[in-house]
Amino acid sequence: MALFELRGLRKAFGPNLVLDGLDLDIVTNEVITIIGESGSGKSVLLKAMMGLIEVDAGSIRFDDQEVTGQSEREWVRTRRRIGMLFQESALFDSLNVYENVGYALREQTKMSEQQIAKRVAETLALVALPGIEEMMPSDLSGGMRKRVALARAVAVRPEIVFYDEPAEGLDPINVTRVNRLLLGLKKSLNVTSVVVTHNLKAAFAISDRLALIHDGQIAATGAPESFLETDDPVVREFIGDRMRRVLRAS
Ligand SMILES: Nc1ncnc2c1ncn2[C@@H]1O[C@H](COP(=O)(O)OP(=O)(O)OP(=O)(O)O)[C@@H](O)[C@H]1O
Ligand SMILES: [Mg+2]
Repeated sequence: MALFELRGLRKAFGPNLVLDGLDLDIVTNEVITIIGESGSGKSVLLKAMMGLIEVDAGSIRFDDQEVTGQSEREWVRTRRRIGMLFQESALFDSLNVYENVGYALREQTKMSEQQIAKRVAETLALVALPGIEEMMPSDLSGGMRKRVALARAVAVRPEIVFYDEPAEGLDPINVTRVNRLLLGLKKSLNVTSVVVTHNLKAAFAISDRLALIHDGQIAATGAPESFLETDDPVVREFIGDRMRRVLRAS
């Protein structure tokens, strides 16, 4: 079943046509990774699916409900069901880890302080950072900051999580760690996961399905292996011969 159904999405910023009739289904419980050149509209697509950017045309259905054209109040309700790890992954620097991870719980739920404390502790344990509630973001390494941002994204236990470049700027060990965490969170929380990344090795390792954005549309979608076998020139050019050999070998 499709949790998100995108049909004919169009979005332009002035003369810059970014989405040009994009169609995509996101299936419940899958890990789908959206790949594509820098500037191809990956982040715009995620933001459109959260109502942070209004599309010019087309339809977005979430859990069988049309969400395009919703009021801001309705979007607030929809967004409670979606976790988002933004590309910038900014934590609130003046708040400690506890306040960061518990933020949405306080804003969006009626949980008591005791329940929030318990949920924050559980969620920090899920990202393998138990007991760091009192630390400030400035005292964390880049890898830890990403994991705290992951914890913040899933603290409300969303049905679907968007990860925009979850491993950007991390060293290879932390890239692997964050990707493992992402799969762990999918399993333990039973969430649908939409990932955006430039890291093709990671995309191949974690995804049930890939979708390639090109010229404002989904140029190709399918299991990762199908992206290595296809003759489609757009896919072949995007992956490149060198990377194809690397991916085949791994
Ligand atoms: N708020 C905005 N106003 C104007 N143009 C925007 C806005 N947001 C995005 N764009 C433009 O839309 C295009 C797609 O941007 P987007 O951020 O989605 O790219 P991306 O695929 O996520 O790239 P990257 O891989 O570098 O993160 C770019 O040309 C960008 O300049
Ligand atoms: Mg982006």
